[in-house]
Amino acid sequence: MNKTNSLFDRVDAGKLHAELVKKIRHHDELYYQKDEPEISDAEYDRLRQELEALEASHPELVTKDSPTQTVGVSVSSGFKKVRHAVPMLSLSNAFEDQDARDFFERITKFLSLPSDAMIEVAAEPKIDGLSCSLRYEKGRLAMAATRGDGAEGEDITQNARTIADVPPVLKGAPPDVLEVRGEIYMRREDFRRLNERQASADKPLFANPRNAAAGSVRQLDARITAERPLRFFGYALGEVSEDIASTQWGIRAALKSYGFAEAEPAKLCKSVDDILAYYREIEAQRPDLPYEIDGVVYKINRIDWQERLGFVSRAPRWAIAHKFPAEKAVTVVNGIDIQVGRTGALTPVARLEPISVGGVVVSNATLHNADEIERKDIRVGDHVVIQRAGDVIPQVVEVLLDKRKGNPPKYQFPDHCPVCGSLAVREGGEVIVRCTGGLICDAQAVERLKHFVSRLAFDIEGLGDKIIQEFWSEKIVRTPGDIFRLDNINAGLDIPLQERDGWGEKSVANLFQAIEARRTIGFERFIYALGIRQVGEATARKLAGSYKDLPEMRRAMAQALLADSEARQDLLNIEDIGPSVAEDIVAFFNEPHNRDILDDLQSLLTIVPYNLPQAFDSAVAGKTVVFTGTLSLMGRNEAKARAEQLGAKVASAVSRKTDYVIAGEDAGSKLAKARELGVTVLSEQEWLALIG
Ligand code: IVH
Repeated sequence: MNKTNSLFDRVDAGKLHAELVKKIRHHDELYYQKDEPEISDAEYDRLRQELEALEASHPELVTKDSPTQTVGVSVSSGFKKVRHAVPMLSLSNAFEDQDARDFFERITKFLSLPSDAMIEVAAEPKIDGLSCSLRYEKGRLAMAATRGDGAEGEDITQNARTIADVPPVLKGAPPDVLEVRGEIYMRREDFRRLNERQASADKPLFANPRNAAAGSVRQLDARITAERPLRFFGYALGEVSEDIASTQWGIRAALKSYGFAEAEPAKLCKSVDDILAYYREIEAQRPDLPYEIDGVVYKINRIDWQERLGFVSRAPRWAIAHKFPAEKAVTVVNGIDIQVGRTGALTPVARLEPISVGGVVVSNATLHNADEIERKDIRVGDHVVIQRAGDVIPQVVEVLLDKRKGNPPKYQFPDHCPVCGSLAVREGGEVIVRCTGGLICDAQAVERLKHFVSRLAFDIEGLGDKIIQEFWSEKIVRTPGDIFRLDNINAGLDIPLQERDGWGEKSVANLFQAIEARRTIGFERFIYALGIRQVGEATARKLAGSYKDLPEMRRAMAQALLADSEARQDLLNIEDIGPSVAEDIVAFFNEPHNRDILDDLQSLLTIVPYNLPQAFDSAVAGKTVVFTGTLSLMGRNEAKARAEQLGAKVASAVSRKTDYVIAGEDAGSKLAKARELGVTVLSEQEWLALIG
């Protein structure tokens, strides 16, 4: 019997084991979840070694959840995820006056208002920060969350409590449940002082107030957040147990009465000309405002109209951001590179002499495509004007020809893929040049993986572009399924992950946790993640709504291979899916390599069938409806939007699967088809009665 064993035998091995496990768990929690270790790494390692030694001599004590078996599990990525009771939306943008006029026109049409109807709009500055939802229960702050992907954000309650503008208790008589949506931001002056403090403490500087605000909120230690000069203003509501106002202007007043700050200077406008005048006023005041703004926001004042207007994809129809013109700067083009996207598109990118544009350092700009380079005649070595608007990728506006030296060669767009060497071609009429390498092209494969883990897809934090590229090059991750087989990632690596630049025990553990958390995924996200050409978020959702789950969709796509099949017709019947999109979807699902990937993912993941977002007990939830003819009580767009809100699927053509055809005046062939197939036909009034 060796020495260790005899030592263990003297004490009760089981008891010692339990104590060690408890200690290690305690220190794990301090280290991983609270970011506040109490012992040194060496002391921690000693505890683990002791446990390993004990388990080696007493294998019967090894349980599945012993810390020796579960590196990094039960570790949080920092912030807890929280589901928003009401999704947090973003805004669509207007850049020109005409876009603002179009906004008014769209609203008029959607609501079927007379063309001269007065539409009141609450206008306020758009302050650049990060959005946040504050939930109050019985007047007390119960939860603060970031937007995240709109459906699910991060719990930042502790951090939000440190912000002076966030009242812990509301004044007046707020409803029992009140969710205030707003922006956390930093004033210019406070930002400048913070950076001075950072500099004198030899810490990195923040590029702009927005980054400083975001970085301060995402501190695991709320004491650091507390030292940062953050502010908050409320701009909209989430869940409320009772209405607090019937207008947006009234919401502003109510929020002020509860103790919130509001964005100023704001104005209640009564026409397009009014809002455009407001836009110019604010633009003129912009340099003197105490905070950075990137535009103004227009919100339809009447809440009942807001409700009717609803939202498309991730932005409300009732509001729009009117952005200020992009910031510009002059710099030099050092080179032109070609990037290969996940669908093979070759995109030229200008490598620039780094330059600060409105507080952000820019070193790349998109050149869009070959025609664009040709038209602007951009050559390496040129001085160019670049512009940056918000988060949009910077662009080259023009070449300063009088600064061109000599006659540098014109840029030759490649006719082969720079990564896999396959022929690159322009498909009929397209401006995009594509690599024909498909599955053999490394660049496309890597881009597909990046898309697969991106925020609106699998959203795996820790698997950024750089690490995907590394895993690919080292042949650790070659297909999406490989990500979920990473349990012993270091097995195949020359340098263990935790020893690499930017990595440590903690970030490796976080990565594993993030991957584990995504083993269960909603069907709509899953479809989007596949990166099928022309299938964005909205189309993915429609497909998920139509086919419910993956096995069903795969069956249908196999049948849809025949262009004149019923399955192909069903696909085409989905609103917004035309022949070319349908072609891409069918091709994707029938490609043997893709089929293998799907089989693999199905065996590794739990793909949750699609649940219609608001499929409550409405009479039309899950039904397929087709609108035809002229509708007189509701505009066509409002009628469709309303049907979708109630959980119905709106199709473009009548088939045996149609449940209702709603026929307005002058309905023609679709009505005839419905009669022929025996589909229930409703008048507009009957439809409205049905949906209540
Ligand atoms: S209203 C339903 N008002 O800009 C969404 N948003 O680019 C209502 N923002 O997500 C948003 N200032 O985070 C609104 N005065 C303001 C704003 C504002 C800044 C942010 C907000 C939004 C983003 C969209």
